[in-house]
Amino acid sequence: MGVLFKNHSKVFSSEKEVEWWNAVINSINDGILVIDRQGLVKLINPEYTRITGVSSEILGKPLREYHPSAQLPDTLEDKKCRIGVYRKTENREYMVDMAPIIVNDEVIGAVSVCKSLTEVHRFSQELKKQSEKLKQLERQMGSLYEAKYTFEQIIGKHTGLKGVFYAAENVTESDLPILITGESGTGKELFSQAIHNKSDRKDQPFISVNCTAIHSTLLESELFGYGEGAFTNVKKCVKAGLFEIANHGTIFLDEICNMSYDLQAKLLKVLQERKIRRVGEMIERDIDVRVIAATHRDLHHLVNKNQFFRPLFDRLNVIRLQIPPLRERTEDIPDLVYSLIQSAITHSPTDSSMYTIDEQTLRFLQSYEWSGNVRELKNVINYAF
Ligand SMILES: Nc1ncnc2c1ncn2[C@@H]1O[C@H](COP(=O)(O)OP(=O)(O)O)[C@@H](O)[C@H]1O
Ligand SMILES: [Mg+2]
Repeated sequence: MGVLFKNHSKVFSSEKEVEWWNAVINSINDGILVIDRQGLVKLINPEYTRITGVSSEILGKPLREYHPSAQLPDTLEDKKCRIGVYRKTENREYMVDMAPIIVNDEVIGAVSVCKSLTEVHRFSQELKKQSEKLKQLERQMGSLYEAKYTFEQIIGKHTGLKGVFYAAENVTESDLPILITGESGTGKELFSQAIHNKSDRKDQPFISVNCTAIHSTLLESELFGYGEGAFTNVKKCVKAGLFEIANHGTIFLDEICNMSYDLQAKLLKVLQERKIRRVGEMIERDIDVRVIAATHRDLHHLVNKNQFFRPLFDRLNVIRLQIPPLRERTEDIPDLVYSLIQSAITHSPTDSSMYTIDEQTLRFLQSYEWSGNVRELKNVINYAF
């Protein structure tokens, strides 16, 4: 169906021109209805019929007669535009904009342009669905980057450990980097999670990166991300790095001594300037991430052997937490054992009253070397179960 005109207006000098205007009005994606100065319908386009259900029968008739509450004739009187008028019939919903048509200061008619809301609803429903999916993904991501432990869950009354508690609890509000040293399994990650959870950053991501587990050539792009120009064989691929994902939160760099010398220098720059640059990109991005680094090795010794970048060491070493090995705090072993048994019981389907530990076994556990520290003790208890 083409545009329907009743009584050709004088502006159309030839049949061809009428055809041309027909095509124009026809191709418009909005519904259009025009009335003349008497309020008679002069034109409607197919989209108008589709949106409102009003057919071409209305042509030549007074709009008011057909539709008593129509506001378009009012615009002939007051010459005012009406924007976004909401209309609802049985199964249709649409919005109408109305305007007078003025030639030489004289109102010669009025035009009504309408948009269907049914489609808008469809889009908004689709949008709602997508944003729910996004929220779900965000929740999943959130739990992926969440710190579980708090200070209350860290067991130990040994003086050395108490010193670590005291220092750690006092630096939660600072943004300075922290260096945690201690043998494997002493609780370095545990403390870093507790620090994060007590800081203002607790509702933001906590991301743990093991610098040993990621190959050094990949580590830079994992940490800082990459832009389009990063890899010649991978075109138009961009990825945010862990620093960006951890923004406003905390990043835990475990076994920092295994980071390449090159990357150590880049990390120092990030700590100093609080900006990161994705691999293959020129632009720098502001970043607000607290860095907690950990290592089981003696960094000072590595610095002296030129195996660790001294300026980075100096920067990290400002707040230093040194966790004593388990064999030096044997008085903490009973509490740890009871707590580990307790959590093993909650994960075990068997009768909990079966499990006790006698003095002799406890003394034996206290005399053991525990080179794997609390992690090893935990494994032993779990293995016993
Ligand atoms: N003081 C502690 N109290 C309770 N659990 C601990 C303690 N120290 C370590 N653990 C447990 O031992 C395991 C190893 O701790 P983790 O923080 O990963 O050690 P590290 O990072 O030093 O290798 C974890 O399961 C942790 O929950
Ligand atoms: Mg660890």
